[in-house]
Amino acid sequence: MVAKRTRVVGIFLAALAVGCGDSAEDTAAPSGPWDEGVALGAEPQVAGDAERGRHILLNGDYMTCGVPLALYDNPALGGMVDAGFGNVSREDVIPGREGRNADLPYSLNAFTSPDGAEVVTTNCLGCHGGKFDGDIIIGMGNATADFTTPLGGDTSVPLTDDVLDLLGLTEPEKANLKKVFGRAAVLGPQTKMRTIGMNPAEMFAVILMVHHDRETLAWSDDEVTPVVPKDHDGNPIADPRMTSDPPPWWRAHKKNALFYNGMARGDHRGTMALATSVCVDSVDRAREVDAMFTDIQAFVSSVRAPEYTRSVDAALAGEGAALFADNCAGCHGTYAGMVHPDRSEADETYPNLLIPLDVIGTDPAVAEAGTVHSPELVEWYNGSFYGEITRMEPSDPFPGYMPPPLDGIWATAPFFHNGSVPTIELVLNSKARPAVWKRVDLDSTNFDEDALGWPYEELDYSQADAPEEEQKFIYDTSYWSQSNAGHTFGDHLSDSERRAVIEYLKTL
Ligand code: HEC
Ligand code: HEC
Repeated sequence: MVAKRTRVVGIFLAALAVGCGDSAEDTAAPSGPWDEGVALGAEPQVAGDAERGRHILLNGDYMTCGVPLALYDNPALGGMVDAGFGNVSREDVIPGREGRNADLPYSLNAFTSPDGAEVVTTNCLGCHGGKFDGDIIIGMGNATADFTTPLGGDTSVPLTDDVLDLLGLTEPEKANLKKVFGRAAVLGPQTKMRTIGMNPAEMFAVILMVHHDRETLAWSDDEVTPVVPKDHDGNPIADPRMTSDPPPWWRAHKKNALFYNGMARGDHRGTMALATSVCVDSVDRAREVDAMFTDIQAFVSSVRAPEYTRSVDAALAGEGAALFADNCAGCHGTYAGMVHPDRSEADETYPNLLIPLDVIGTDPAVAEAGTVHSPELVEWYNGSFYGEITRMEPSDPFPGYMPPPLDGIWATAPFFHNGSVPTIELVLNSKARPAVWKRVDLDSTNFDEDALGWPYEELDYSQADAPEEEQKFIYDTSYWSQSNAGHTFGDHLSDSERRAVIEYLKTL
């Protein structure tokens, strides 16, 4: 194992030296904690049409079922439907969408379901569309998505045929509504998060696998493959809700393996398509949806980070670039941008390393999900239709995390895979991180340019001890999967060195 690591890293460093031999900075860090990492190799991807993918993403029917549009448009009931979608603002539209989608919030798609009903439901941008300085950015993680109320709103209302007749719905509309309510009743309770911004995608994936038959993909409201999530010592975890922070799509084109722990290998579209499987009931339907994902994947790979919109101190950023080359580039790669006007995107390097848990030291829950807590699901996935497209390999060669590409990193607070750290300044100073904190507000224009992140308040009481109305704004790092430990690679920097590195990160 050790020999293999050294060899792979050695090849990587040699490649760096050849590729960027003109810049001393890039080769200045011959050894460091990156030596413990293993490079994950590139694999072929099916080519698609990015333009068509964007169109499908924003107008298409890949989610396959939804709430009848007639209810969303109903003045008396629309509010309830909205609440089920997480109260997304009806003002948040993006230009260029088609038909009914033109005036829907950007995170909803209206379409005709396969059985002929006009329906509306959340698209990928509910999690992968965020805001910075008030602008909607497609592909940026949504840091304010609210999953603190159960998905689908109040699913306790009995949907008898009498009630549905009263609403004047057609048969296909009724069938869609029943399906959505039924799935939400299963998904909702286990995906209710503690804090606004916490994302339940990992939990969704777990439940989707537990309730779908692996061979036929038929859905069952009962568990088909029950799992009892276990901790490190093999004891059941009482509350296995795991949080995640949706990563920006502009990393995907650099990454040979997807997900924070690098477990998704091969062509990438399988795991993305799994995210749509909530309404899928058969392999045939899964295949139809998969056909759209060749293009959606091409779009995801075409997304690039926005440019920093505020001012940058170029001299300070230059000092930061040298520090970055010595302390960070071995893991996070090298970049073009303001400090390196001579480089183009093609000159950038990204080592695609997986860093073992004991070296990175951040919360282990996500890295160990497929190896310790619920390995049954890796088996489910790899033996399913989706596993024929993308393989799930959470322990190859060991559980760990990939150092993400840092393009546009200034826009993507909070940080780490679990969103446990509110600013980059704190990513670079592990001892100063607050154990319990909350954002001052959820306004995307209220941004801390010095610390690079969201202004926050440190609290001296736990989330459980906070007044109820305050609780959903509080991030408490004492819960399972929410630790803010690790990544101590900036701790030895002085405050002024840290300032310089931060200034440099604004240029990526
Ligand atoms: C419920 C929220 C949610 C929805 C809906 C969702 N995602 Fe994600 N997505 C996430 C989270 C959270 C992660 C990070 C998971 C991890 O890495 O462990 C993620 C990871 C990804 C990644 C990997 C990125 C990387 O850097 O490794 C891609 C690509 C992606 N999603 C695409 C999609 C597409 C396409 C859709 C729509 C079909 C979609 N997602 C729907 C929350 C969501
Ligand atoms: C040994 C490899 C390694 C080194 C060295 C390293 N990092 Fe990281 N970094 C990582 C890994 C792995 C993660 C992801 C950790 C996680 O999410 O749990 C990460 C995460 C980050 C993040 C947060 C990314 C996000 O979206 O949440 C930032 C910012 C960052 N690193 C900056 C730096 C800077 C600046 C340096 C140099 C001072 C540095 N790192 C040095 C491996 C490294």
